[in-house]
Amino acid sequence: MSRPVITISDLAGHVDQPVTLRGWVYNWRKKGKLRFIILRDGFGYLQCIVFRPEVDEEVWEKAVELTQETSIEISGKLVADERAPGGYELKVDNLKIIQIAPEFPIGKKDHGVDFLLNQRHLWLRSKRQHAIMRVRSEAQFAIRDFFQQRAYTLIDSPILTPAACEGTSTLFETDYFGEPAYLSQSGQLYLEPAVAALGKVYCFGPTFRAEKSKTRRHLTEFWMVEPEVAWMQFDGLLDLCEDFISSVISRILEECAVDLERLERDISKLEPATKGSFPRIDYGDAVKTLQTLGQEIEFGDDFGAEHETLLAGLHDRPVLVTRYPADIKAFYMQPDPTDPTRALAVDVLAPEGYGEIIGGSERSASLEHLEHQIEIHGLPRDAFKWYLDVRTYGSFPHSGFGMGLERFVAWMCGISHLREAIPYPRMINRLYP
Ligand code: 4AD
Ligand code: MG
Repeated sequence: MSRPVITISDLAGHVDQPVTLRGWVYNWRKKGKLRFIILRDGFGYLQCIVFRPEVDEEVWEKAVELTQETSIEISGKLVADERAPGGYELKVDNLKIIQIAPEFPIGKKDHGVDFLLNQRHLWLRSKRQHAIMRVRSEAQFAIRDFFQQRAYTLIDSPILTPAACEGTSTLFETDYFGEPAYLSQSGQLYLEPAVAALGKVYCFGPTFRAEKSKTRRHLTEFWMVEPEVAWMQFDGLLDLCEDFISSVISRILEECAVDLERLERDISKLEPATKGSFPRIDYGDAVKTLQTLGQEIEFGDDFGAEHETLLAGLHDRPVLVTRYPADIKAFYMQPDPTDPTRALAVDVLAPEGYGEIIGGSERSASLEHLEHQIEIHGLPRDAFKWYLDVRTYGSFPHSGFGMGLERFVAWMCGISHLREAIPYPRMINRLYP
């Protein structure tokens, strides 16, 4: 009798058939003549039952020997059983041990987070981390699909760069054959010339910030998706932020229901964000609101994490805060025509304390303005010559934003710290494994 080798994602088509599966022992328990093995194969979990009177003694002996994370090949008849976790069960008739694992460092007891991060390569095998990685993967796919469907061209921006994009205080410097080079903080400056070539572009890759802060919202290496659109002005940008977030969340709620359930995510908290109509609040009004809430903040101050949490907490969906003072924003932003002390900037604040997930702006289209900005920000004029060419050869209005993938994934999964939203987190005090 042929026995197909299947995965746990593929059980439905094999009920009442003999099958073989390969994976690792997630868990096991004994009860008299029974052994219950929870098999984990990367696609799911399956309860496998070994009943001593029905298997060869040799198979029983192997079942007794199993330890957590032992790699096995297991065969038997697959049955549908409503009482079994996941609705299926394997009635085992054969078992092959590939390698017996010694005691697994991560057990059932509560481990400190530092311990778990040192074991990150093994921690990924846990149910919770599995679910988070699935959501992350789906989010990346949904993001790419969003732009692909709307005729954006993917432009991969370089990681080694000659200059800063988002301020000079968080630059990672490296030696580039005797010259200083910096790890990219954002692909934006490379998208702006490209958008003059291709109309609508995006990049999606790793970005680096030498963040000295140890907050739960900061990584030193994170992934950012950045669209840039020619002829798009500020109002169009706000619409794009909203459409993008609504679409990607809808897709995640559809595709990741099992993972979100495993994470015990209250999806009623995410559903409003699929419906659009995100509130848009002027920076000045946001400051006033914070003042009435008793916060010590003055017009001109940047928001701290607590301010963002308070502002976003007033709504059930993301909030777009607009028109920040130009002084507290990056050099490349277009001044507001009605008040040039303000920038046409937007930050999107997520609910439930997740804070800023998107930062974006209309870009300055004036060569003169940008030259002045580069000077007052103390940036090296020569390193930006190529960037200024966008304003020399047929300048045009354009806008774009950047969203940090890990902040988005943390919000989707309802996890409090970004370190779990990326496979191998990099933070001020962590470069291992
Ligand atoms: O607001 P930021 O600094 O904006 C830019 O880099 C623009 N050049 C993007 C653009 O307009 N194309 O960063 C954008 C987003 C933030 O809203 C946040 O989600 C994320 O990137 N981010 C971080 N995520 C994790 N760790 C950090 N240290 C982050 N810094 C920014
Ligand atoms: Mg920002």
